[in-house]
Amino acid sequence: MYLTKEEEKMLDGEYGPAVQYAMKMLVKYGEIFDAEKMVEIKHAHISCTTWTIEYLLADWLEDLVKMGAKVRVPSSSMITNIDIDQWQELGISKEWYDNQMKLLEKLKAMGIKMELTCTPYFIPWVNLNFGDHVAWCESSAIIYGNSAIGIRTNRECCQSALLAAIAGRTPEFGFHLKENRKGKVLVNVKTKLKGSYDFSIMGYEIAQYLGLRTPVFKGVERASVLDLTVLSAALSTRSGVTMFHIIGATPEAKTEEEAFQGDKPEDKIDFTDEDLRKAHKQFRVGNEKVDYVYIGCPHLNMDNLKKIANLLKGKKVANGVKLIIGTLKALKKIAAEEGIEQIIKDAGGYLISDTCYVAMRHALGYPSGTFVFNCMKQVYYLREGKAYIGNIKECIDAAITGRWSVRE
Ligand code: F3S
Repeated sequence: MYLTKEEEKMLDGEYGPAVQYAMKMLVKYGEIFDAEKMVEIKHAHISCTTWTIEYLLADWLEDLVKMGAKVRVPSSSMITNIDIDQWQELGISKEWYDNQMKLLEKLKAMGIKMELTCTPYFIPWVNLNFGDHVAWCESSAIIYGNSAIGIRTNRECCQSALLAAIAGRTPEFGFHLKENRKGKVLVNVKTKLKGSYDFSIMGYEIAQYLGLRTPVFKGVERASVLDLTVLSAALSTRSGVTMFHIIGATPEAKTEEEAFQGDKPEDKIDFTDEDLRKAHKQFRVGNEKVDYVYIGCPHLNMDNLKKIANLLKGKKVANGVKLIIGTLKALKKIAAEEGIEQIIKDAGGYLISDTCYVAMRHALGYPSGTFVFNCMKQVYYLREGKAYIGNIKECIDAAITGRWSVRE
C-alpha cells in the first residue's frame, strides 16, 4: 500500500506507540481489502460503548490508554446500555452503571466525546459535507450518512473506527470509492408511503432480499429527515447494506442513471400495496392495552422533540404505561432549556439520552408486555412481547390512551 511520508513516520513510531500500532493494524486491514492508499478522515464515530456487546474489549481499551492513545480527529461515541444521568430514576442497578463506566472512562481518556448516540449527524458540532471521508460505527448512521448526506464511510467495527480515529485515516476501499457507491438493485415503489412507519416497514421488508447490494428506490414522492433515518435503521436489520439511493431525493441519485452510474440494475424488486397491506397486518393492526411506548429510533432531532412536546402539552400518560423518548445528550440539554423536557416529565414520560429501549432493556431486566415503537429496528430486536410500529402521533396517542388501536 502506498503511504505518504507522514504515514511512514507514523508507522515507524515517530508519533508514539499508539499511533504506530493503529497504523500497523490499518495497513493490514487495507491490504486485506486491496486498498491502494489511506484516506484522511474528518470525523470518527466509535462504538466500544455497550457493556452487553463490547465488555470483552475493556482490556484492549486499557492497553491503548496505557500506550498514550489519543484521537487525532473529532470523535463521538455510540450509545450505551444505560442513561448515564438517569439510570437510578429508570430503575437500573449501580452494577450496570459501574460496568458501563469501565468502557466509557477509557474512551474519554482517549479524547472521544461522550455524545453516546446513534445519530452522530445530529450532534451540533459535527459539521460534515458531501464527499467527506469518515470512519463510523453503527449501521443505521453509516447508511444515513452515506445515503442522505453523501459522506463516505465503510461499515466500521469498534476496533477499526477507533484505530482510524487514532491515526486520523482509514484505508481507501469500499464505499470511500465512487465506483463502489453505485446502485445494484432497483426497488420500484408502487405504493404511496403514508407515514414514517411505511418507510421503516419498506426498509425492513426489502432488506431481506439485498444482502450487501445497494438498493435504489424509485417512485418515492417525498422523504423527510425522519423518513430517511427510520429507513436507514430498518435496512440495517436484515441486510448488510452500507447505503441506499432514492431517485430525486438523495444526493448521488438525481436521476436513475446517476444512481446506477450508467449501469443496469442487477435485480429488480417491486414494493406494492399488497406488500404494505401484509406488513401492516403483521406490525400495525391491533387493539390492545399498551405497556411501553418508545420513540427515538434512531435518536430524535429537535424538530421531532418539539412535535412531541406539542402533542403532550397538558396531557397525561395513561396509568401503567411507560413513555420513553430518546435523543442525543446535546439535544436533551437544549430540550431542557426550552422547556420541552419539563412538558414530557409533567405528562409522566421520560426524556432519555445515551441509550435506547432495546439497548437498555438488558439493564432493565427484560420487561415484557405490549410495546409501541416508531421504527422496525426496535420491533425486530425486541424479544419480550408484542410490538407495534406507528408514527410519532400514533405513539403519543397510544401512551395517552393506554391502547394501541389500528384497524385493517
Ligand atoms: Fe439507535 Fe437503538 Fe435504533 S441504537 S438505531 S435507537 S435500535
